[in-house]
Amino acid sequence: MHPDCERILVSEEEIAARVKEAGRWLTEKFRGTFPVAVCNLKGSSVFFSDLLRATQVDVEMDFMAVSSYGAQTISAGQPKVTRDLFSSVAGRDVILVEDIVDTGRTLVTLRRFFADRGAKSVTVVALLDKPSRRVVDSQADYTCFEVEDAFIVGYGLDYAERYRNLPYIAELKRSVYEK
Ligand code: IMP
Repeated sequence: MHPDCERILVSEEEIAARVKEAGRWLTEKFRGTFPVAVCNLKGSSVFFSDLLRATQVDVEMDFMAVSSYGAQTISAGQPKVTRDLFSSVAGRDVILVEDIVDTGRTLVTLRRFFADRGAKSVTVVALLDKPSRRVVDSQADYTCFEVEDAFIVGYGLDYAERYRNLPYIAELKRSVYEK
């Protein structure tokens, strides 16, 4: 384990098994359709590429970014779209792939964003959920793991742009960010 981590919350093997299940869920739900799978950069990137290889649905891939923490561990106010999609989602089924639902603000913002763009439907698949931190009412349609209120890194999630490439999901030591 990385020395900056307190403990591993979800192992590589547990992630792989759950991602397969999520992929099968998408296969059932979107059979015979051609949805756009949207990766919310950067945190969802690792999950996105594993998830889409675990589903048999034909998908278009697209990418966007929403402002979030910067080098902090507490979400700062209203999220903003900072990088737009490559393609139009008007009339399309959208699969939004999220790393973690924390306060829920990003999800509310993105559901509104896709509705404004005329998406036919929006299905949110989240790797992690921290329900104890929610400040606005919003929920993913499929969640891989629920976690307690701790700062999480690995498998795409960062602190100050580090730790995204850890193959497991871990709690970051408080001493790393409480300096
Ligand atoms: P929300 O808008 O508060 O739900 O926050 C969503 C974004 O904050 C996520 O997409 C993550 O990028 C980031 N985030 C929330 N909690 C964590 C965490 O524990 N570790 C790393 N990033 C996090």
